[in-house]
Amino acid sequence: MTATAPRRPVRLILGIETSCDETAAAVVEGGRRVLSSAVASQVADHRPYGGVVPEIAGRKHLENLAPIVQAALDEAGVAPEQLDAVAVTSSPGLMGALLVGTSFGKALALGWGVPLVEVNHLHAHALAIFLGPARPRLPYLALVVSGGHTTLFRVSSTLELSILGQTRDDAAGEVIDKVAKFLGLGYPGGPEVDRLATGANPQAVRFPRGLATAPTLDFSFSGLKTAVISHVLRTRRLDGRLNGQQPPALPEEQLRDLLASFLEAVVDTLVGKTLRAAREHGLATVVVSGGVAANTRLREKMTAQGAAAGLRVLFPGRDLCTDNAAMIAGAAWHLARKRRFAGLDMRPSAKMKPGSC
Ligand code: KG4
Ligand code: ZN
Repeated sequence: MTATAPRRPVRLILGIETSCDETAAAVVEGGRRVLSSAVASQVADHRPYGGVVPEIAGRKHLENLAPIVQAALDEAGVAPEQLDAVAVTSSPGLMGALLVGTSFGKALALGWGVPLVEVNHLHAHALAIFLGPARPRLPYLALVVSGGHTTLFRVSSTLELSILGQTRDDAAGEVIDKVAKFLGLGYPGGPEVDRLATGANPQAVRFPRGLATAPTLDFSFSGLKTAVISHVLRTRRLDGRLNGQQPPALPEEQLRDLLASFLEAVVDTLVGKTLRAAREHGLATVVVSGGVAANTRLREKMTAQGAAAGLRVLFPGRDLCTDNAAMIAGAAWHLARKRRFAGLDMRPSAKMKPGSC
């Protein structure tokens, strides 16, 4: 079944994002002006399990979607008949979660008689910078670094993005969350690790920088995770306090230095590969997006080392870095302008769909 053709040039788009654990809806005008951006976080629902539970995510999206879409329309002061298109995240992500969002988006598009646009979640992260005041010059390099992904894109145009490198195992945010969980810091660990590491000694322990010297733009973080866990277990055993019982928490100062050293390894890996990619591909602007882009040390080091290498380094605002639907509506506008609409028979994909943006 084909999508409804647009009645007029596409201006107002409702975006829907349900790829992981945030249910989000937003209205964006002309691919740039965010009229509303509503996010219902499921963090509290997943916290008892120490990570995202796909089954719970799907059920919560189902519960949250209608009210969050209504909230986005109300906040924007936009009535459904003013919308020109509905955009949905169609890949990559949790299949059950994507199915809820895409089915809902299809129903709205059909009911309101507007076209549907399918958006790649990672491409939307890489293009989120267009929703803020910065005006990046194309082509640029985008590092998308989140709980699910660590990917370097060459953004040739708002419709042409190609992968230059990606993680071969865990994503950077995933490793931060796993180390935090191991240390009993709660879920998601990123903000707490950031807070505790800030001002501590990043040179206290030397952890490995995965694939740092290998001639590839790919990342690897699982060795770092093992190294941190081994280090903690070794330290505790040396203290002679384990005796088959739950190990006592590390003293505050030791914990903060450990986290700063761990984070330094993550940040050095991200900055090293990003600068290398910019150099190898002759790109002068770097955009860093995704949840981990909120990290204080990453922002500091990427900005300083990027400037030293003659690069312009840009970060979308923190609300646009973490999962949101404004980036979906924003990316969709570029597709809609070129009349790249999706059929109502469109299917989401857990893996990256080729050619979706
Ligand atoms: O983009 P996002 O909201 O969702 C995904 O698509 O994954 O990213 C969430 C990830 C989590 O791993 C979280 O721990 C991490 O971003 N994160 C941070 C910080 N804030 C969020 N990591 C380091 N420092 C932060 N300040
Ligand atoms: Zn994301």
